[in-house]
Amino acid sequence: MLVKIAVPREIAQGETRVALTPQAVAALIADGAEVLVEAGAGEESFISDAAYREAGATVVTDAAALYGDAEMVVRVGRPTDDEIGMLRSGLVLIGTLGTLANPKLAEQLAKAGVTAISMDSIPRITRAQSMDTLSSQATVGGYKAVLLAAERLPKFMPLLTTAAGTVRPARGIVMGAGVAGLMAIGTAKRLGAVVEATDVRPVVKEQVESLGGTFIEVEMTDEEKANAETAGGYAREMSDDYKQRQAALIAERVKEADFVITTALIPGRPAPRLVTDEMVASMKPGSVIVDMAAEMGGNVEGTEPGKEVVRHGVTIIGLTNLPATMPASATQMYAKNMQTLVHHLLKEGSINLDFSDEITRGATITHGGKVINEATAKALGIEPSDPVPAAKAE
Ligand SMILES: NC(=O)c1ccc[n+]([C@@H]2O[C@H](COP(=O)([O-])OP(=O)(O)OC[C@H]3O[C@@H](n4cnc5c(N)ncnc54)[C@H](O)[C@@H]3O)[C@@H](O)[C@H]2O)c1
Repeated sequence: MLVKIAVPREIAQGETRVALTPQAVAALIADGAEVLVEAGAGEESFISDAAYREAGATVVTDAAALYGDAEMVVRVGRPTDDEIGMLRSGLVLIGTLGTLANPKLAEQLAKAGVTAISMDSIPRITRAQSMDTLSSQATVGGYKAVLLAAERLPKFMPLLTTAAGTVRPARGIVMGAGVAGLMAIGTAKRLGAVVEATDVRPVVKEQVESLGGTFIEVEMTDEEKANAETAGGYAREMSDDYKQRQAALIAERVKEADFVITTALIPGRPAPRLVTDEMVASMKPGSVIVDMAAEMGGNVEGTEPGKEVVRHGVTIIGLTNLPATMPASATQMYAKNMQTLVHHLLKEGSINLDFSDEITRGATITHGGKVINEATAKALGIEPSDPVPAAKAE
């Protein structure tokens, strides 16, 4: 029997993306799946119901019927309580569930008997690069953050030599040079700004320089250098001593900046505070800060998640879903990531959950009524359960 995959319309406020494009639907049908799409699911990403039908999907108008029939539900964000109520036990739910920041959701999904797979828990290994929504959506966010800064800035970004005089280029600082930060550096350089960047991981210096940025280097001991990143390439929380050295350097640089883009995150921890209110006050009036870490508490003192505020004459933008402001590209990339993951989970048209596989094991949060994801279990203060090896979904 063909596996039935459902694509709901995202109902969270401000969400414009959809989990699969018609191209991704066609590819999964070629894998042996049947795809049901809720009417209007693609509307805000400029994809019509007719386009899904043409790709071979069945368009369903009733959400309850959609969930009732599906063995797998693929989505962008986390489900609402009402939606969780519609999920059958044994169903496979895939989305960006954010269970590390919101582990209670994992408990709820385990209780519902759902096998929950989270895009943000897929291991960042080479084999999983084409499924990596953290990277694809951070690429969109980093680009958009710079455009927002450019739009709000009361001045040009590039150097201009005109009959009306010479305009000096804007100066920007990017804090956190991961996927989003590197995209922000590249975008700001293309707009002609002078860009500096800082990160706790010394390995990114070369990447920043290759994009034409200048690396703001905090002096580090050999021990700090060796321990700045985890085996997975993520940042670790630094010592208070390091933080003080970093803050002194940032305070000096921020005074000169016209715009600051902050992206610094530490998995499972609140975002590190990098820009204090005092530093904001030291900036020129009219300067702009885009705090991409707003949802995790913000890198900037005074950021309000989801809002744009002005403090000491400086605009601080704390929008929490920048990818949703560019739905055509964000959906195209997200859907390709999702399709690749679903393809990975299917075998001869059926769901095949092989828990000996690093990607399947790492991304699965709940299975068989239990929380099996180690980091999520840790956040809940419980022991992770072991899934049955090579278990098959019903
Ligand atoms: N599939 C893959 O192989 C793959 C794909 C994408 C990213 N990665 C790697 O994953 C890692 C994380 O990338 P990300 O973009 O998701 O990172 P992230 O979103 O977790 O964090 C953003 C950046 O903030 C930095 N940061 C954290 N605390 C900081 C502080 N106090 N001060 C300054 N900077 C701070 C981090 O080092 C990181 O570069 C990187 O090593 C990246 O190369 C691997």
